[in-house]
Amino acid sequence: MGQSNLLSIDGLRLYYRSARGVVRAVDNVSLTMRVGEVLGVVGESGCGKSSLANAIIKFLPPNTALYEGSVVIDGVDVVRLDEDEVRRRIRWRVVSMVFQGAMNILNPVIRVGFQVAEPLMVHAGASREEAFRAAREVMRRVGLSDDVFNRYPHELSGGMKQRIVIATALIMNPKLVILDEPTSALDVSIQAQIMNMLKRLKRELGLSMIFITHDIALASDISDRIAVMYAGEVVEVGSAEQVLLSPRHPYTQKLIAATPRLRGPKPDFVPGQPPDLTSPPSGCRFHPRCPYVMEKCRSSEPPSIAIEDGWSVKCWLYAGEAG
Ligand SMILES: Nc1ncnc2c1ncn2[C@@H]1O[C@H](COP(=O)(O)OP(=O)(O)OP(=O)(O)O)[C@@H](O)[C@H]1O
Ligand code: SF4
Ligand SMILES: [Mg+2]
Repeated sequence: MGQSNLLSIDGLRLYYRSARGVVRAVDNVSLTMRVGEVLGVVGESGCGKSSLANAIIKFLPPNTALYEGSVVIDGVDVVRLDEDEVRRRIRWRVVSMVFQGAMNILNPVIRVGFQVAEPLMVHAGASREEAFRAAREVMRRVGLSDDVFNRYPHELSGGMKQRIVIATALIMNPKLVILDEPTSALDVSIQAQIMNMLKRLKRELGLSMIFITHDIALASDISDRIAVMYAGEVVEVGSAEQVLLSPRHPYTQKLIAATPRLRGPKPDFVPGQPPDLTSPPSGCRFHPRCPYVMEKCRSSEPPSIAIEDGWSVKCWLYAGEAG
């Protein structure tokens, strides 16, 4: 592992038990991240983005059927730690998470400043005074004025609530913050303000982030690198420039074509339905929807093929191009 690697994920799997069978939500995902980098994770609803985030911090539901592979962060393999160690050593202090929809589950009867301060008191044994001071500071950092500290969630707008949730994730100075659809519940102008605030944090703090969204255009606004997920797998990963300007995987190409633009032709859409993850298609999981499908795509799973350093594509079309 290179010195500046912050995160190394290898062969990560997270499956769930369900009435319909085993859901292969994260299936053999490998990714690396460098310190200070923002990695965008994009893909349609149900492709496993939140499951990947949960797998990284070992936040496993009771119906977990399989959890394996490795997630090495800060030199520690999270997969191998027990729950107690993950809680003590990893969550909040090394990796924190802004859960999808978290702004809607702020405690309605507790002042928001206290909610921001709470992790410091619970997980780092800080005094109330220290924790409150740190909370005020981090709230300022995310663009909230001092008077917000003593308010209740219902007294805040959606954008302010989301800033509170982000402040809570930052309070222990984690090395990595995972943001799961942090702006999708907000209207466009508020979304832009939150994005600007996140970009400022990236600049000022050198904050490493995993930014999860179904909106590849939004991901492009902040990400250094982008990983495209399809049906539990990463099908393409590369620099934002590589993935956005010359997408190689047919699914990435469709996803970009489906993004509305201010000018230009009406967006295309990705035809067909995402697959059922209890019985994903054989061979390449995208084959039922792929315009370039070949015979072998139906029967054999494509390997991850390196196009350039740090850019790889899981597609048979590039099998002759390995470089
Ligand atoms: N606890 C669970 N038990 C069983 N199945 C689950 C569980 N959580 C998620 N799933 C299923 O796993 C798959 C991946 O879900 P996940 O929430 O990770 O996708 P996502 O990409 O985050 O979707 P979205 O964009 O809608 O948030 C889906 O088929 C989902 O129905
Ligand atoms: S492996 Fe085949 S089916 Fe899958 S994306 Fe590539 S060309 Fe399409
Ligand atoms: Mg999700």
